[in-house]
Amino acid sequence: MSTATRTAIIGVGNIGSRLATRFAQHNIPITVAASNLENAQKVAQQLGQNATAATTEEAIANNDVIILAIPFAAGIELVQQYREQLSGKTVVDPSNNIAFDEQGNALNLNPEGVSAGQQMSKALGEGVHYVKSFGTMAAAELEKDRADHGGNIVMLYATDDDAAGNKVAALAEQAGWDPVKAGGVDDTARIEVFGDLHTFGGLQDTFLNKEEMLQRI
Ligand SMILES: NC(=O)c1ccc[n+]([C@@H]2O[C@H](COP(=O)([O-])OP(=O)(O)OC[C@H]3O[C@@H](n4cnc5c(N)ncnc54)[C@H](OP(=O)(O)O)[C@@H]3O)[C@@H](O)[C@H]2O)c1
Repeated sequence: MSTATRTAIIGVGNIGSRLATRFAQHNIPITVAASNLENAQKVAQQLGQNATAATTEEAIANNDVIILAIPFAAGIELVQQYREQLSGKTVVDPSNNIAFDEQGNALNLNPEGVSAGQQMSKALGEGVHYVKSFGTMAAAELEKDRADHGGNIVMLYATDDDAAGNKVAALAEQAGWDPVKAGGVDDTARIEVFGDLHTFGGLQDTFLNKEEMLQRI
């Protein structure tokens, strides 16, 4: 990874706090932000010297890679609100556009045949680089280290932007995953919930290593 790459995570809930922890543990400096700055400050304090808390505005202004670990609808609003400030930055989107019914079943909130990733990438302003990643497994599984049959777990990503994809791949690799490109923006449904390459979809809670994953792409 280029030493110039600076990474922020907006959101310190299930996904954001675990990503921040994993990055900090792998000596990747990280800025964290949240709706409530105090929540970001608590997480940064627990993680020590590799983590800094900031407001969303500061996190976007001072970093190159911005991971949106916030609910899908909040993400759409955020990229519209910070349209200009995000220009030239890489936005990384782990979102699934789902809700749960009373029985705990996941409901797909996307329009028929359209992925969350396609909607998010359309909502971005000019010059924003878009990559879908870090949402291909349940949040707690971001703590896992080994694939079921040995080797590193794969971190899938999808993008139409090779340079941005390479940045995210480098970040994933530095954090101990094997990055594998699943395709472009039109393939993002494959790495969202219900998709054939999501652990809450076709992978059915299995954790593949790179060799195994490449046979599925
Ligand atoms: N949970 C999973 O297992 C899982 C798996 C794969 C993908 N995902 C996706 O990852 C994303 C995050 O999910 P999550 O479960 O981590 O959510 P979460 O636990 O509800 O956490 C959401 C975080 O986002 C922050 N936030 C919300 N709106 C914001 C805004 N407008 N500006 C700044 N920060 C904002 C919240 O701030 P406060 O702390 O101040 O409230 C909170 O820290 C979602 O798109 C979800 O679909 C989740």
